[in-house]
Amino acid sequence: MKLYYGNMLESRAGVNGIAIRDIEALEGRIREIDARLKRDRAEGRLQFMDLPYEPVNKIVNIANEAQGCENFLLIGIGGSSWGSIALHTALSHPYHNLLHEDERGRRPRFFVLDNCDPDEFAGLMDTIELDKTLINVVSKSGATPEPMANFVKCYELMKRATRGYAEHFVITTDEDGILMRLAAEEGFTCLTIPRGVGGRFSVFSPAGLFPAAVLGIDIEKLLNGAKYMDSICKNPDIWQNPAYMFAALEYLAMTGKGYNISVLMPYSRRLRHLVNWYMQLWAESLGKEKTRDNKTVNTGSTPLKSIGATDQHSLLQLFNEGPFDKTITFIRVVNYDNKVELPAVFHGYNELDYFGGHTMEELIKTEQFATQLALTTHGRPNKTVEIPEIDAFSIGGLMYFFEVVVTVMGELLNVNAFDQPGVEEGKMLTYALMGRSGYARGEIMRDEGEFIIGEDDG
Ligand code: PA5
Repeated sequence: MKLYYGNMLESRAGVNGIAIRDIEALEGRIREIDARLKRDRAEGRLQFMDLPYEPVNKIVNIANEAQGCENFLLIGIGGSSWGSIALHTALSHPYHNLLHEDERGRRPRFFVLDNCDPDEFAGLMDTIELDKTLINVVSKSGATPEPMANFVKCYELMKRATRGYAEHFVITTDEDGILMRLAAEEGFTCLTIPRGVGGRFSVFSPAGLFPAAVLGIDIEKLLNGAKYMDSICKNPDIWQNPAYMFAALEYLAMTGKGYNISVLMPYSRRLRHLVNWYMQLWAESLGKEKTRDNKTVNTGSTPLKSIGATDQHSLLQLFNEGPFDKTITFIRVVNYDNKVELPAVFHGYNELDYFGGHTMEELIKTEQFATQLALTTHGRPNKTVEIPEIDAFSIGGLMYFFEVVVTVMGELLNVNAFDQPGVEEGKMLTYALMGRSGYARGEIMRDEGEFIIGEDDG
């Protein structure tokens, strides 16, 4: 993997770019952060960093036992689903579910319930047969309303569908959470997410690895990629450590230039859900009201997904000519799995006949280069993360890289990157409004500014 950041600098992006002297001024802080992170890690406070070194035999054994099923249904939300979805979209066949089972290597079809949308739920139940389905319920807390609603409903339906219902559930949860207790009572298979690992940092725990293994993704290779990236990201020198440089550039762009939008733009549709995973990691970790020492800052930049080349025809106009409030990070793929030769047809039609002798891979790479050039010409700071190909090793490395970037950003901003009080608040209100015992409903007042369209029945 390589990081090209020249287009972020003043020398290329002009007054909108970052000055080398500002990066140099951060060198000392970065070294301090590096020392603090190493100490925290050694004392067990950054457990997610050590996940790639954990044994995976249990995960692989349970995944092998799951091979007979036709469907694999993941129930989870946020950090408990984005990692698995990202891995599947990047590393399985793009039309996995539509392939014949032999073409899928006899791996199950993959479905996700990561909402509490009744129409989606009912639609899925119309589509799959539960007695041919393995359900993996992933929830660290075992209390999040959306996955738990899906779980209890699936449990009820599965019990009706088959006597051996317990064999259709694998629960992935916190070591001593309520789901663990329930699983023991019901006889469900269980996998654990280590206590100190938060949802959005759990992709290298059973939360991300078990679904990946069931779907035939080489999880050893994925973890090797993460370990390799760990070795690169241990360097205390900002000029030698791509994760530290990435974080420093984003920090300087945000705090020094007021760029409050951070775009991630891979030139591959296979990485579209990896961007969702990254957005959640970035937003929940860095969007904070308070610093660690309790000062109100309301900080964080907004991550934005853009897919090349598709969004060249939707967002790029804004990136090139709109306000100077964004940084753009490309993900460039050096070798795509397929080239797809373009034919020389329709001679005499200038719009079409120049394709002959070229490949689709060449076209998408050219478009990425052209976009990067156009943005730089317009003084728009941009950088590029280059991966050699989309395989388990590169994806493992890339996800680990972003986890380190976000951790270091948290340190630079002096916020706790590992909590999410703004999410918890919404959960508490939902519990109260839904009548969960122990949560007071209180007086839920209709807001003065509320506008009711049609009949208000309560
Ligand atoms: O990253 C996080 O911590 C959150 O996004 C959680 O993953 C999400 O709220 C789901 O929580 P749980 O796994 O407890 O159901």
